[in-house]
Amino acid sequence: MIDFNKFTKYSKPGPRYTSYPTALEFDESFDADTYVAELEKQKRERPLSLYFHLPFCRSACYFCGCNVVYTSKEEKKERYLGYLEKELDLLVKHLDVSREVIQLHFGGGTPTFFDAKQLERLIRMIRARFSRFAPDAELSCEIDPRFFTESQMEVLKEGGFNRISFGVQDFDPRVQQAIHRIQPFDMTKRAIDVAREAGVESVNVDLIYGLPYQTFETFKKTLQLARELDADRYAVFNYAHVPWMKKTMRKIDETTLPKPETKLEILKYTIDFFENHGYKMIGMDHFAKPEDELFKAIEKGELHRNFQGYTTKGGADLIGVGLTSIGEGEDYYVQNHKEMRDYEAALEAGRLPVQRGIKLTEDDKIRNYVIMELMSNFKLDIPRTEKRFGINFAKYFSEALEELQTFQDEELLQISVDAITVSPTGTLLIRNIAMAFDAYLKKIPENKRRFSKTV
Ligand SMILES: C[S@@+](CC[C@H](N)C(=O)[O-])C[C@H]1O[C@@H](n2cnc3c(N)ncnc32)[C@H](O)[C@@H]1O
Ligand code: SF4
Repeated sequence: MIDFNKFTKYSKPGPRYTSYPTALEFDESFDADTYVAELEKQKRERPLSLYFHLPFCRSACYFCGCNVVYTSKEEKKERYLGYLEKELDLLVKHLDVSREVIQLHFGGGTPTFFDAKQLERLIRMIRARFSRFAPDAELSCEIDPRFFTESQMEVLKEGGFNRISFGVQDFDPRVQQAIHRIQPFDMTKRAIDVAREAGVESVNVDLIYGLPYQTFETFKKTLQLARELDADRYAVFNYAHVPWMKKTMRKIDETTLPKPETKLEILKYTIDFFENHGYKMIGMDHFAKPEDELFKAIEKGELHRNFQGYTTKGGADLIGVGLTSIGEGEDYYVQNHKEMRDYEAALEAGRLPVQRGIKLTEDDKIRNYVIMELMSNFKLDIPRTEKRFGINFAKYFSEALEELQTFQDEELLQISVDAITVSPTGTLLIRNIAMAFDAYLKKIPENKRRFSKTV
């Protein structure tokens, strides 16, 4: 039995580390010209991973932390596709398109808020410019079951999409009402059936814990229902509550949010639940069947983390296209404009719509490696890290190792000369563990840290 009350002290603001340095460190000194220079430097042998941000949604889910444009205007979508095409044309001027594409992802917002014809236009536009897709490329799309038709599925299938991720969040009617997202179980089930019937190889379902009115009992029921959907993967995200950044989150009554000890209990139950049903925990919030390649990657210690979460495909350059999209290369991150007006204006002027980014220093790269290894594999091979970067680990990270002593004392991890190994209970607090290696966080006083709570 774990005494969850003991760990509530770890409930503090902290990054989710989809990047290191985090997006807070990006700045405007990294501009379109810097990005062009980076694109032209990319190595031929590095494959490409393409991300398209499709930002529109009809109405706001109050918990939503994604970059969304709420609209019911049809013409906005056509107009946006036109700008995506302009952006692609600029990108391919500086990108070697003979490189292999190993991933293509449509994220949002709600990609299926675009109708079948519009999705077809987008896929055609991409395929016309990137013709070399790897035979085993992963083509994935996020889908809101409330906006999903068979004809959209046909277009995606025709376009080679083999992975679909469905947004569910929670099945409890009271929770659904509080988050402004009414989505009956049957609607979700039908959407998944449509994908399965079309022969989609891998189905993912997104759930969130930490939402208003959730209790241990309600989430248990949500998990049971979710399991009936027999997805290949489940993502169970910790609700990131950042009302100072997202206005719609202010509609959530904070007194109805579950307490940290309840959240830890839910998380522990979730891990046991999926493991008892034959799934394996991948990173801090994913569960996959043993035959899933994410699972195989973890066995080989080859799981990676990027802006889209966990992936088996490391070593690719990620090209982000569309409003607010983030790209990632060997030693930089780049982000597009967040305001549609600025995004369009840059493209009208014939410039890539870059708002900001960062060039990674050697120290950033070392810490990035350590943090991503811990977040993905819950283990860090110390000799391998030393060899890779030519450092003496104990010396380089003396401060971090000291900070981790309390974690070691509480049996959340073990430090030896060979490795840092996170214990099963420690995985619940992996963000806190990773924070010890974050050089930027140290410069922000604890009461000024504007991140969601780790627990
Ligand atoms: C772009 S949405 C998925 C596609 C579609 N818009 C939908 O909602 O069905 C991406 C996922 O991010 C997760 N998410 C959004 N806001 C979140 C938050 N504040 N904290 C944790 N997860 C969040 C949700 O699980 C959601 O399904
Ligand atoms: S959760 Fe999905 S559907 Fe809801 S507002 Fe966010 S992006 Fe849109």
